[in-house]
Amino acid sequence: MKRGVLLYFFMVLWISLCGYNHTIVAQERAMSLKDAFREKFLIGTAINSYQIMGKDPVTMAIVKNEFNAIVAENCMKSENIHPVEGVFDFSLSDRFVQFGQDNNIVITGHTLIWHSQTPSWFFVDREGKQVSKEVLIARMKNHIQTIMKRYKGKIKGWDVVNEVINDDGSYRKSKFYKIIGEEYIKLAYEFAREADPKAELYYNDYSTAIPEKRAGIVAMIKKLQQQGVTIDAIGMQTHLGLKTPDIAAFENSLIAFSQLGCKIMITEMDISVLPFPDENLGAEIAKNYEYKQQMNPYQKSLPEDVIASFEQRYLDFFKLFNTYQEDITRVTLWGVTDAYSWKNNWPILGRKDYPLLFNRNNEPKPIVDKIIKQSISE
Ligand code: XIL
Repeated sequence: MKRGVLLYFFMVLWISLCGYNHTIVAQERAMSLKDAFREKFLIGTAINSYQIMGKDPVTMAIVKNEFNAIVAENCMKSENIHPVEGVFDFSLSDRFVQFGQDNNIVITGHTLIWHSQTPSWFFVDREGKQVSKEVLIARMKNHIQTIMKRYKGKIKGWDVVNEVINDDGSYRKSKFYKIIGEEYIKLAYEFAREADPKAELYYNDYSTAIPEKRAGIVAMIKKLQQQGVTIDAIGMQTHLGLKTPDIAAFENSLIAFSQLGCKIMITEMDISVLPFPDENLGAEIAKNYEYKQQMNPYQKSLPEDVIASFEQRYLDFFKLFNTYQEDITRVTLWGVTDAYSWKNNWPILGRKDYPLLFNRNNEPKPIVDKIIKQSISE
């Protein structure tokens, strides 16, 4: 019994020392990421529900030390925040917003209207029959405005609609589109503007480097602008592979979007080192592929040549962001450490990926200092 207590005591001591140590490590580094980019743009990260619940203090210490912007990875999506009609669950989103406020971190709301992670009640009546256009518009309005009003003055900007353009530039035929028509997009922005006139409103999408998709987004934003809707920023998700997309194509999109008079935000950056089952997958979360051993090649560690390409890719993209610092207002990574990255489970469940800036031991990877060095030397 006594030995057990003693062991427990040492374990607690060890765990707290490790946590303390990691906090110190982040503070002792010559310069944090947020300081390195302070004059250029915000540097942000997504935080997951486990972290918001307070179960991962070591990672949260990194967030406080290194980042000055946050976004919730899942807890503000409609299936979580509004699981039953009229029943909102703000338990996690309140904690998330409180964390941002307590630590003086800029908060982004993600996401109000999206075809994924939307509960099925949204589109059907009590009998399970598809609702009318009028009912869906009223539901959209209530959803957007209830959430935005709760966080009025606390959340700087919102991803109002997410991923509404297909890779070929056409409108995605989501349930919102099918029931309401193209007009739902304009309405969503109008409801949002009315709920919190001071909040910034964003359009967010993946695979934005594809020329047809770029053209589709440009056409949609222009049309909205002609109808009097202003979009403050376009979010380029930036879920990258080691080779795709081509950085020149990405740059062309960045230029085209900023020529619309919108700011640019890099909203969900990560770089997967794993093979992609389909190069044109983008970030369509509904598509999943079967696990195969050869699709999970780095279960023990990453070979040196892969690390070198990974680092070069990060440096190339950050160099581009530095070049366009006048247009870019925020660069956000989609997660803090590799341990919890969504890329471990998408598009194939149960792989080991290494897409982020901090490793599974909560340590900054060598690329972090290289990114910082590149930023301050320019
Ligand atoms: C992802 C989350 O990271 C996962 O945890 C979740 O299971 C699915 O969604 N585009 C988006 C993000 O806008 O919200 C998605 O996040 C990734 C693609």
